[in-house]
Amino acid sequence: TTYNIGVCIYKFDDNFMTLYRQELESYFKSLETDTVKYNVTIVDGKGDMAEQTNQVDTFLAQGVDALIVNLVQSSSAATITEKCKSADVPVVYINREPAAEDMAAWDKICYVGADARQSGTYQGEIVRDLPNKGDANGDGVVSYVMIMGDPENVDAQYRTEFSIKALTDAGIQVEELFNQRGDWDQARGQELAATALSQFGDKIDVIFCNNDAMALGAAQAIEAAGRVVGENIYLLGVDALDECVEMVNAGTMTGTVLNDHVGQSHAAVDAAIKYINGELIGSAADAEGPVQPEHPHAVVPVAGRDDAEERLGALRLGQGAARFPHQGADAAVIALFRLGNGTVMGQHLEAIQPQRRLKGGKIPAEKPPEHRKIRHGKME
Ligand code: BGC
Repeated sequence: TTYNIGVCIYKFDDNFMTLYRQELESYFKSLETDTVKYNVTIVDGKGDMAEQTNQVDTFLAQGVDALIVNLVQSSSAATITEKCKSADVPVVYINREPAAEDMAAWDKICYVGADARQSGTYQGEIVRDLPNKGDANGDGVVSYVMIMGDPENVDAQYRTEFSIKALTDAGIQVEELFNQRGDWDQARGQELAATALSQFGDKIDVIFCNNDAMALGAAQAIEAAGRVVGENIYLLGVDALDECVEMVNAGTMTGTVLNDHVGQSHAAVDAAIKYINGELIGSAADAEGPVQPEHPHAVVPVAGRDDAEERLGALRLGQGAARFPHQGADAAVIALFRLGNGTVMGQHLEAIQPQRRLKGGKIPAEKPPEHRKIRHGKME
């Protein structure tokens, strides 16, 4: 049997989504057998929602078996779901999270992504743990520049909010000097950092970027302005692109946080295959289990680790997890717990391994369960 899978990426020209889509493709390939083939077509939305909607229409007209969609605009989820529901083609949304009410629209949709609150918090904690707590110029206040992704994405909102919250929670005084959208883009990151540096100069202690691409741009602007990361300014990103991991190790970037495109793409593929095999995911799958949620977003209580592990199987994520033991089951179990006081939220499956923090500084030997950290490119 050959299954046809349509994959819609919001834009090919994005460092992180490029790694993600390459991994999607090769993981599908790796799952092929003598009798089961996956014919995967990946299309470029070019950052244009109208274009992406057309691409979905085309896939549906061709009769694909499942779709994996990285929305250009998360707010268009309802429209896309409606089309797919009419055609009875299940959808795995990735990377850009639709609103909760949109996720309740049909039982053959799910979302795979990481928790951006965590990546934001890790960014802030890296700064908090610096000897001077991020106050590079020693004036008693951590004055920062925030370079955001696309503010329509909750990931951009959460990373922004939680990076700063980690500082204020630690009693650190902060001041926002500049906050602008860089749309996840390196060139925009460079432009914005250059503007901020010329406007605020030595007042800037920290430049937070919602992703590594923009941090790469900011690093160029920092160098051009004659500033030195680690000496008189700090620079943070998210993703742990290879290039940035090297920079962290070399000290030219203060830190980044792993955004695991491998784990995420595998979870997305596994989910699509479940749908193709006629299985449901999340609360929809749970409906036959011991707890019967009344509606798709019912909260299912988890009694403890074992129960969570069992549920994990029921939630159809066990397999993917088991194949990738170093980033799988534990993390997914933790993710279940993370969704509020040991509860699992219906279709909203964020059961992705926790992001790991990466920084040049010291890492405690003891590893608490939900924090797996990387230092000098190695996982602990
Ligand atoms: C990544 C960014 C990427 C964005 C695309 C985020 O999770 O950190 O690098 O540009 O997703 O939506």
